[in-house]
Amino acid sequence: MSEAQERAWSELAPRFVIAAPRDAAATSIRPGAAIDPHQVWGRHAPLIAEIGSGQGHAIVHAASGAPDTDFLAIEVFRAGLARTMLDAERAGVGNLRLVEANAPEVLQHLLPAASLDELWVFFPDPWHKKKHTKRRLVTAEFAETARTALRERGILRLATDWQDYALQMRDVLDEADGFERAFEGDWAPRFDGRVLTAFERKGSRAGRDIRDLAYRRVA
Ligand SMILES: C[S@@+](CC[C@H](N)C(=O)[O-])C[C@H]1O[C@@H](n2cnc3c(N)ncnc32)[C@H](O)[C@@H]1O
Repeated sequence: MSEAQERAWSELAPRFVIAAPRDAAATSIRPGAAIDPHQVWGRHAPLIAEIGSGQGHAIVHAASGAPDTDFLAIEVFRAGLARTMLDAERAGVGNLRLVEANAPEVLQHLLPAASLDELWVFFPDPWHKKKHTKRRLVTAEFAETARTALRERGILRLATDWQDYALQMRDVLDEADGFERAFEGDWAPRFDGRVLTAFERKGSRAGRDIRDLAYRRVA
């Protein structure tokens, strides 16, 4: 991390970062370590989590524009979390918390079941080489984990610039128990709440189509 990011981490982490109990790995979450969101955010409000929030552009923008909603950024990249805190502090954002952890474990062990109103996965690592596609986040197993974390009628939003990953996401979620499409036609319209990040810009410049998807959690 840069010096500014190191400073942000030590000064701002106590305010923004949820100190999660770990299992063996540094970014793991110990089973049974669920938080009470009402205690963490100090109120009862809708809760939105973003997986792989990167530098935090989307979630800081969203949190500053929706002060009546609570937000959780889930990321394993510490420098990105430091950048997120610096921007959140500058924007005077008080409704955002961060967790430095492997996202599926956050959904399984840190968040209570049915606690999320929305879950965002924007430009997850594409692992586009054939021998690496099995590392992708959005699989049938992930759909089950997301379903458990979302409340009924909650929304899972996804975006990617890799067509074969978009097709994989859509196949997985069309097949998954407990989800229905929240869009008509082939793809969801671009989600208004998603700001343009470097990853989207890079994909567009390379001539790739940006695909959005949205699924509603049903009984
Ligand atoms: C391609 S970047 C996209 C970042 C951001 N969503 C954007 O659009 O700018 C993917 C991010 O997901 C994070 N990530 C990858 N696997 C993760 C995991 N298992 N849990 C949490 N974050 C993860 C990476 O560290 C990286 O910052």
